[in-house]
Amino acid sequence: MSGSINDRLSQLSALAEQSSNMRDAFDNDAKRAQRYSVKACDITLDYAKNLIDETSWQALQQLAADSKISTLRQQMLQGAAINNTEQRAVWHTRLRQQDVSGLVLDGEDIGQQISDCRARMAALVDTLHQQQYLGYQGSAITDLIWVGIGGSLLGPQMAVEALTPYHCSPVKLHFAGNIDGAVVSDIVSGLNPATTLVVVASKSFGTEETKQNALAIRQWFTDHGADKSAIAHHFWATSSNIAAAAEFGIEQKNILPMWDWVGGRYSLWSAIGLPVALMIGNQNFQQLLAGAEAMDQHFFNAPFAENMPVIMALLGIWYINGHHCQAQALLPYSHYLRLLPSYVQQLDMESNGKSVDRDGHALPYASAPVIWGDAGTNGQHAYHQLLHQSALAVPADFILPLKVKHPLQDQHSRLAAHCFAQTQALMQGKTLQEATAECLASGMSEQQAKALAPHKVSPGNKPSNTLLLPELSPYYLGALIALYEHKVFCQGAIWQLNSFDQWGVELGKQLSGPIYQTLTGNDSHTFDSSTTALIKTFLAAQH
Ligand code: F6P
Repeated sequence: MSGSINDRLSQLSALAEQSSNMRDAFDNDAKRAQRYSVKACDITLDYAKNLIDETSWQALQQLAADSKISTLRQQMLQGAAINNTEQRAVWHTRLRQQDVSGLVLDGEDIGQQISDCRARMAALVDTLHQQQYLGYQGSAITDLIWVGIGGSLLGPQMAVEALTPYHCSPVKLHFAGNIDGAVVSDIVSGLNPATTLVVVASKSFGTEETKQNALAIRQWFTDHGADKSAIAHHFWATSSNIAAAAEFGIEQKNILPMWDWVGGRYSLWSAIGLPVALMIGNQNFQQLLAGAEAMDQHFFNAPFAENMPVIMALLGIWYINGHHCQAQALLPYSHYLRLLPSYVQQLDMESNGKSVDRDGHALPYASAPVIWGDAGTNGQHAYHQLLHQSALAVPADFILPLKVKHPLQDQHSRLAAHCFAQTQALMQGKTLQEATAECLASGMSEQQAKALAPHKVSPGNKPSNTLLLPELSPYYLGALIALYEHKVFCQGAIWQLNSFDQWGVELGKQLSGPIYQTLTGNDSHTFDSSTTALIKTFLAAQH
């Protein structure tokens, strides 16, 4: 391949057409698994079951070498405004750096700010754990409602769930994200405001869902007789918009910082991680940061050929731009990781789901896949049928923690067997000859076998990665999340787009205003005939 990055990306299709059959590749190369596997932070990535050979892999490696990955990575570390449409630095990796002393950005002592924030988070967690945070009627806090959406919710929700075996908090945690009133109604119906703490998590403190949920909860406090000072005592915020949080009634001492240089979907490592620290304790939260920092070090220092995020990024590019796959399945074989696909959906799709490059020119190629998935083995009894036999090609990441904390070891072995069997079945498939032989062996007549065998054929040659974590501990979860962050970063660099803005979400927000005004009779606007009819039907149902 030669020419500009654009040319290279368009040349991938021709290269992809020459892809050899994976089953043959395994038969012809006893060392294939060894050749195409890598270890980072004790996490193993087996990428042997992909549609690559030495020629295509060399070409992809060259693409990485000639791309802006190295430059952009350097600029990121230096604090350059690589989020160019918002003129912001991208420093989420700094948030998990153990030693932040001397970190300065635009003349500000960021290291000190990060240290202060960590200390304040830890102090709040300790006070809650020791049941010394007393509510306005003198009883200890028993429940915490975390109000936020998108990047201010998905990370902590996923990590709290993932680390269930590490939970050690006497305080129960509730997440309120969706503006659907059912969420807050359900949460508060079982709670007592006198023993409930509320954290409003919003970088902008302007997100409608978060504001409305926070207002509804504040009203619930008022309805139960809480006055202004009681409310001030029970409400905290994590935000970079101090003025808006203060206007809401949250005292300065209860506002934990967020910064312009950390995007919402990269903010788990900041005060947005408070629910995680609360549920697993401060020391374990430090381990989460340490695991992410270890993956950062790997990403910053390992040569591209052994660099796990770079390898995963290249495989993704290969399928999107070479094989024209539009989806990517994320299949954690771990009940506790079942929210990972939702988390990575925002991380990947909000970062790289773009149509213009960094300079605003239309991208001549596709970026970001549709990320979807759920915990295995559930999906095997739902959508895996499509993965195995449909004409759609959906590359899949299988993720398995090797050791578990629960006592049902045999079930863990069965889970692992299914995980590995799925990757094997996707790769090798089942030929017509094999299906026919299987039918005959089960006692069918030749005629019966001939009729049924085509239905049992699986084309195979379907790609997958397998990621093996030593265990699902805070450390390895941190490393796993950072791995996906850096994969997305590398892909954004190759696609030459800005992975750190999200202008596409604005239009829907803008349009909902006039519709809401019309629905509530405060104003009337003109819409297309479909929207007008929908509004009319909604209004008719309210009477
Ligand atoms: O609307 C998208 C978005 O801006 C996300 O990028 C962000 O994570 C989420 O909304 C929440 O934003 P905030 O933390 O400002 O409430």
